[in-house]
Amino acid sequence: MIGRICGTGSYIPKVAWDNNKLSEMVDTNDEWIQERTGVVRRHIASGEETTSYMAAEAAKAALADASLAPDEVDLILVATISPERIMPSTSCEVQKKIGAVNATCMDVNAACTGFIFALNTAQAFIGQGIYKNVVVIGAESLSNLVNWQERSTCILFGDGAGAAVVRAGETGHYAQVTYSAGNGGNVLTCSSRNQKQFEEQPKAAETYMQMDGREVFKFAVSKVPEVIRELLDREGMQPDEVKYFVLHQANERIVRSVAKRLKEDIGKFPVNMGEYGNTSSASIPILLDELNKKGELRAGEHVILAGFGAGLSYGASLIQW
Ligand code: COA
Repeated sequence: MIGRICGTGSYIPKVAWDNNKLSEMVDTNDEWIQERTGVVRRHIASGEETTSYMAAEAAKAALADASLAPDEVDLILVATISPERIMPSTSCEVQKKIGAVNATCMDVNAACTGFIFALNTAQAFIGQGIYKNVVVIGAESLSNLVNWQERSTCILFGDGAGAAVVRAGETGHYAQVTYSAGNGGNVLTCSSRNQKQFEEQPKAAETYMQMDGREVFKFAVSKVPEVIRELLDREGMQPDEVKYFVLHQANERIVRSVAKRLKEDIGKFPVNMGEYGNTSSASIPILLDELNKKGELRAGEHVILAGFGAGLSYGASLIQW
């Protein structure tokens, strides 16, 4: 059995902060941010728009798109690094909110590669014949983890959720390559606020996202093309057989560099970080939902999804629409 995406959905917080608003908070400006990152604005979740709320809204939209009832869902996987509660899992909260009473639920933490890792997990369960209908979600409220006084990070991130319904079928093509590189993990970190060392200082710098931007950039532009090439080689495919490369939306310069290294037309690399910034595990499913709703994806076409992020983690999945 092979899982095929048969519905997508997303939820974007109502409030957006543009670069000019950030320039009132830290020493930065619209021109610098757009030139170095491609980000123009990012959406910021309100108190009611929690990670599980956004995840549930994205899931409802994806189920409607797939014409699947909530009680037909066997498994809910939520990729997130920014849950509003440590327990129960965000996926159990989603189950409650959407009424997926027959689903088994668990969360996946692989940061910005989370959606890819969760999609692989869905495929593994489907391939083994264990589950048939899986909802895979990436959902983040990164605005809670961002230090809004730190200009080198706060300009990049935003909130949102995206979801895909993956249904078991006899036909289709799915392949993946993933890696974790824990030895390099210190370049992108965020410590839990529920640690003894932070009792005195609950808002210590370590409890916000900390990043060595240049190192993460170098890691992304070398590893993402590498993993995409490995995936194509393994499947005996040429890049021109791929309709779109849906990359994690971290920085437009990273996307351009990956396209160049793969010697592929930049038009095959859709971007939307201008509107949303980097929404970590949500960025790939939000972009996939946009492409799907615009009618850009036709049955049988191949698409590569590729991500990278904290862990360090990276990977690529080949899907057939
Ligand atoms: N506004 C204005 N100036 C800024 C700034 C900001 N928001 N942030 C940094 N600068 C300054 C720096 O202080 C530095 O000044 P200096 O030359 O006087 O020392 C200059 O701009 C260049 O800084 P640098 O860090 O070299 O910029 P960069 O081109 O590497 O861009 C990032 C910084 C963070 C945008 C870039 O490194 C990046 O996107 N990295 C990957 C991050 C990422 O993808 N993270 C998520 C992974 S999932």
